[in-house]
Amino acid sequence: MKNSVYDNVILPLSKIHNRAGNITIIEGQKNIPFDIRRIYYLYDIPGGENRGGHAHKALHQLIVAASGSFNVLLDDGQNKKIVTLNRPDYGLMVVPGIWRELLEFSSGAICLVLASHKYDNKDYIRNYDEFINYSKRIDSI
Ligand code: TYD
Repeated sequence: MKNSVYDNVILPLSKIHNRAGNITIIEGQKNIPFDIRRIYYLYDIPGGENRGGHAHKALHQLIVAASGSFNVLLDDGQNKKIVTLNRPDYGLMVVPGIWRELLEFSSGAICLVLASHKYDNKDYIRNYDEFINYSKRIDSI
């Protein structure tokens, strides 16, 4: 079945607090519903720049504002939703088949991404019209 923007949930993550600060632990298949095969992070994003602007066919991701804040625009081809991430103890699950754009990064923001698969250029849909066609095709299956 086709995924919708409403399948992209915000997950509260663990947080262990003591007087010296906080630690958040994420284990694949325990705190998030996939094995973690890749981690990457975006940082030093110049003011006014956007990232993302693509969809994935199979990749599941957890996106965390490890520092600062940014907005994630989610689009399933029919509905759009904007989620603000601004806490390191919450993560946004992004399921396959969703167009995403990362917008309005605060200064010093770090966008941490945990991904279910290794990098595969063939898993990307980078053209919005192509995404709309792909999403209509999936809808009709
Ligand atoms: P891209 O996914 O387009 O970045 P964003 O969505 O954040 O704007 O990737 C940017 C570049 O980095 C592109 O040349 C592909 C490369 N890249 C890898 O080689 N491996 C990876 O795991 C990722 C995420 C990107």
